[in-house]
Amino acid sequence: MRIPIIGGNWKMNRGTPNESKEMLKALIPLIKKSDNVEVMIAPPFTSLIETFNIVKKTNIKLGAQNMYYEETGAFTGEISPNFLKEIGVEYVILGHSERRNIFNESDDLINRKLKKALQVGLKPIVCIGEHLEERESGRTKEVIKSQIDGTFKDLDKEEIIKTVIAYEPIWAIGTGKTATPEQAEEIHIYIRETLRQKFDKEAANSIRIQYGGSIKPTNAEDLFRKANIDGGLVGGASLQADSLAHIINAAEKTIN
Ligand code: PGA
Repeated sequence: MRIPIIGGNWKMNRGTPNESKEMLKALIPLIKKSDNVEVMIAPPFTSLIETFNIVKKTNIKLGAQNMYYEETGAFTGEISPNFLKEIGVEYVILGHSERRNIFNESDDLINRKLKKALQVGLKPIVCIGEHLEERESGRTKEVIKSQIDGTFKDLDKEEIIKTVIAYEPIWAIGTGKTATPEQAEEIHIYIRETLRQKFDKEAANSIRIQYGGSIKPTNAEDLFRKANIDGGLVGGASLQADSLAHIINAAEKTIN
């Protein structure tokens, strides 16, 4: 059985050390300590330590929003995966569409980061997804296939199983325009089928695939009820404790 994972990606929207503490103190009493749903919070780098000090007493996991693929060296402004590990980071988001589109991250760069994350023992959440024009011109599956080929190049089966994929259609991110549960499910099934061909059936069935893109308290449960959707990566709605708690509790409901 795949345990759904709800990730809160605060981006650069919010998350000074004080804001992070405040948000988590409000969130923790609103969610139950459960083994059925994994919860991950990715604050900005500058709040990781404060966030860790709060979440370490709970089931909430700490995530980083990015990392570099080298462990040490003259890479001004970059963050080593080892620095993240030492302060309690467990998950790392890689290849978010904002990294791909604003900072020109390529599949090849994301592939290097992914391999390094796996090598040092960080759990990667790798984002893939199509632009609106690609969907409208019927190229969604082609784009997804090419991102899977590029981003997961030379990975073995054990490595892919440790990876979480976030399917995030770019047209749905921060736009309020969510993919319907059916649209998301169709692509999640396609991702599993692609992984089955590339790896095998066990890898395709074990890997967790989150949906991301304008998840809200009002649409979360319907998305999470789909058989191939294993939770979500939440941006805007993760900034407020009550809306994030609602989304986490919606995932809990779909288990029972
Ligand atoms: P959103 O962001 O929930 O604000 O659409 C999702 C994401 O970027 O992961």
